[in-house]
Amino acid sequence: MLFNIFVSLFLFQVVTVNAGPASEKAQKWLKPILTYSIFNSPKTLSFNDTQESFRYAFYQWSPIGQKRFEEIPWNETNASDMKIIFNAFNGASVGHALSDGEIWIIDQRIFKKYIPGERIDPQKKDITLIAMVHIQSILIWNNVINGNDYSVTQNFNGIYILPTVIKRNQS
Ligand SMILES: *[C@@H]1O[C@H](CO)[C@@H](O)[C@H](O)[C@H]1NC(C)=O
Ligand SMILES: *[C@@H]1O[C@H](CO)[C@@H](O)[C@H](O)[C@H]1NC(C)=O
Ligand SMILES: *[C@@H]1O[C@H](CO)[C@@H](O)[C@H](O)[C@H]1NC(C)=O
Repeated sequence: MLFNIFVSLFLFQVVTVNAGPASEKAQKWLKPILTYSIFNSPKTLSFNDTQESFRYAFYQWSPIGQKRFEEIPWNETNASDMKIIFNAFNGASVGHALSDGEIWIIDQRIFKKYIPGERIDPQKKDITLIAMVHIQSILIWNNVINGNDYSVTQNFNGIYILPTVIKRNQS
């Protein structure tokens, strides 16, 4: 119930933000320090693990985007530059990133914060990888990084390795 109210308020807020001056929106991404807040965690993961996964993911993009990313507590009156929300909406994808800086992840799957060396369970989505690719989308859309220059590593051999950012071959 509370969450539904929040979602309505939040959507209204997004519309309001979109109606604002374009230059003001673009200015935000030029700041050397960008803040982010995590609204909630998925049902299958603790807030702490969610927080740590996003902290790791932002840390990987920090030298590439030449930004410092700081987590601040969720506050609707004093909003952060980027927001992370898990919700129960239906959808075929894992989630989506909006150019304004919101990351909405669909809380319908089992998420896991894997430890390096651990065997990967295909039923359990890697929260760290999800964090990294959604942050990447936001940074590309807002011209903080160049879309074609970097990719995030994924491992397919069944044993977990933390995802990192690699520079794509320019040839
Ligand atoms: C969060 O995780 C860290 C590292 O795993 C641990 O040191 C800390 O005690 C945890 N905090 C809570 C509130 O569980
Ligand atoms: C949220 O931000 C407002 C404005 O800065 C502040 O007055 C308020 O105390 C903050 N709320 C919380 C819960 O930190
Ligand atoms: C809003 O939050 C930012 C980041 O935590 C803080 O630096 C700023 O002072 C806050 N603004 C107000 C009005 O509380």
